[in-house]
This record gives sequence, C-alpha cells and structure tokens, in this order.
Amino acid sequence: MSDSALSTRPFQRVLVTGAAGFIGSSLVDRLLAEGCEVVGLDNFDPYYDPALKRRNVEQACQNPRFQLQEGDLLDRDLLATLFRGEPFDVIVHLAAKAGVRPSLVDPEGYIRTNVAGTLRLMDALRQASGGGELPRFVAASSSSVYGAQSVAPFAEDAETSRAVSPYAASKKAMEVMAHTYHHLYRLPVSLLRFFTVYGPRQRPEMAIARFLQLASHGKPIPMFGDGASARDYTYIADIVDGIHRAMGACQSFHIYNLGNSTPVRLDDLIAAVGEACGRQAQVQRLPDQPGDVPLTCADVSRAQTELCYAPQTTLVQGLKNYLSWSQTVEIST
Ligand SMILES: NC(=O)c1ccc[n+]([C@@H]2O[C@H](COP(=O)([O-])OP(=O)(O)OC[C@H]3O[C@@H](n4cnc5c(N)ncnc54)[C@H](O)[C@@H]3O)[C@@H](O)[C@H]2O)c1
Repeated sequence: MSDSALSTRPFQRVLVTGAAGFIGSSLVDRLLAEGCEVVGLDNFDPYYDPALKRRNVEQACQNPRFQLQEGDLLDRDLLATLFRGEPFDVIVHLAAKAGVRPSLVDPEGYIRTNVAGTLRLMDALRQASGGGELPRFVAASSSSVYGAQSVAPFAEDAETSRAVSPYAASKKAMEVMAHTYHHLYRLPVSLLRFFTVYGPRQRPEMAIARFLQLASHGKPIPMFGDGASARDYTYIADIVDGIHRAMGACQSFHIYNLGNSTPVRLDDLIAAVGEACGRQAQVQRLPDQPGDVPLTCADVSRAQTELCYAPQTTLVQGLKNYLSWSQTVEIST
C-alpha cells in the first residue's frame, strides 16, 4: 500500500472511546486539527485523577467539532443512542482499565471493562447497523499479550496464549472477541498492540512520568529487580501516527505492533531520566513485581510494510519533550 493511499484519507466522523485519557486525547487533538468531527466517550474512571483527564480535553471541548459524551462503555442505552445518530466512519476504541499491577487486585473489573465493554461496543454497532455495513473498528491491544516467554523481537504471529497478568489476559480476550465479530458480522478490525507509550499527558503512575517527577525533586527512583528488565518505550506522537495510519487502512482483520523496536533497560532509563533532569538519579532497589514481564521489544515490520509506520522520536528527545510539557502543567506524584 502506498503512503499517500494510507495517511491522507480524511475521516468525516470518528468515535474515540477513552477520549479523555493519555492516548485518546492526543488522538482527538490530531483529528480535530485535520477537520474531523469527533465524538469522545469517557467515564472519567478514577484510576488516576480525573482532573488530569478534564485538562487533557479542555482545549478540544472548545472546538465545535468535538462532542464529549461522558458515560460508561458498559451502558447499553448510551451506546444505542450514540449509534442511532449520524453514522461514524471509524471507531477508535481506547477505553480500558490500563495498568498491569492493579489488574492483580481487581481482575474482575478488568474483564468487565476491557472484555465485556469491548463486546458491548461491538454488539451495539452490529445492532445499529441492522445487517448493513459496519464502520471500521480500530482497538488498542497491548504488548503484554506476548507474556514472558516470547522471543524478541515480538512478531504479531508469536504465541500469545500465555498471559502473566489479568490485564494481559483481558487484552488477549478482547482480541479474540474482535476476531469473532469480524468473522460473524464482517466488522473491519485493526488491533494495535502498543508498546509502553510515553510523552506529554502520560498516565501519572507510569514509569517515565513518575521517574521524571521524582528525579526533578531529587527523590530516589524505585527500581524493581536488578535493572535488567527492558521496555520498548514508544513516543506518543509516533503512536498517534500509527493509529491514524491504521484508521485509514482498516479493512478485513489485522493485528499490528506499534512500538519503537529499541528496548531500553530499566537502569539505563533511570540514568537517562537523571540526565534529562540535569542530576544523577538516586535509586531505591526493590524486588521484582509479580505480573511484570522481563522484556518488551516490537517487531514492527508488518506495520512498516502495510501502514508505512516509522517511529521518529528517540528516547532522549521524547524525555525532553515530556519535561518541557510538564513544566507548563502541574503534576502531583
Ligand atoms: N499507555 C500505554 O503504554 C499503553 C500500552 C499498551 C496498551 N495501551 C492501551 O491503550 C489504551 C489507552 O491507554 P492510556 O494509556 O491512554 O490510558 P488512560 O487510562 O489514560 O485512558 C483510558 C481512558 O479510558 C477511560 N475509561 C476507562 N474505563 C471506561 C469505561 N468503562 N467507559 C468509558 N471510558 C472508560 C478512562 O477514564 C481513561 O480516560 C488502553 O486501551 C490501554 O490498555 C496503553
């Protein structure tokens, strides 16, 4: 597929679920800047401070082409009302319970939102279509589906049935259900396996956001394990670009890794965070966390070939961008 065929396609009307979150609000801003009409669904889940989510969509809410629909993905009546209105050409489904560690505490909540919620969304689409054509459905999955055993770099066809956290299991189950709706009802589906996304508006409990906050206040950074675990950190603008490309190309059923293909060890990340803050980071050593995987590393060749996806942002640049942004907003640890 040529680059122009993929990325210049204008979207008329898009539904973004999880629109007030980190990735959702960043996508909403890009779509609005391109002239799309966007409806954003979000229930302002208290997993982290909902005030941060309100701030994420503050500017979008000034735009007459944006409609914020506050409500729960699991609300059948709300979904039916949404889909009775003017049709959407793409649904980008990002709403989820997103953290790995809290999923060990509330596994049922994760299954309810991530699996039953996704099912409700797809089923409301099916019912509203009355057997007619369904809009494109682009949904967030996660690198966590690769578990702890996959051989790096992780390719989309690797084994993914050995989840090591309820979060990972919920994402895998969501993928399987999306395939079922594609098979039964010809729902065009693209599932995007994101690899540790960071940058402005990042969820405050995630490593880079927390580490930068601690290091810039001269506080020690918690290091779980011996520092050898590694993550394929991917900058938010590159992820938004990948989502946008997948929206344009979505037909049939596809799974894409969206990562950076450059894993960074935890101890190297901590050193880079210290450098970005202009001081040597102090480290607080802690034991390994259950549910965490030792390594994530994306093989992005499929997204490269089929979507012309090519992440641009280095970790050093991404950390700088995050720091400049964080100086313009108030972030609490
Ligand atoms: N950030 C990452 O590194 C990362 C990595 C892999 C996958 N993902 C996936 O990407 C998506 C977006 O992640 P994020 O980092 O922006 O998280 P986020 O928590 O900032 O955004 C998710 C949004 O969904 C909303 N939400 C939760 N439950 C809902 C419900 N029942 N009804 C309506 N809205 C609901 C939340 O209020 C939140 O605003 C998620 O599906 C997540 O699992 C993220």
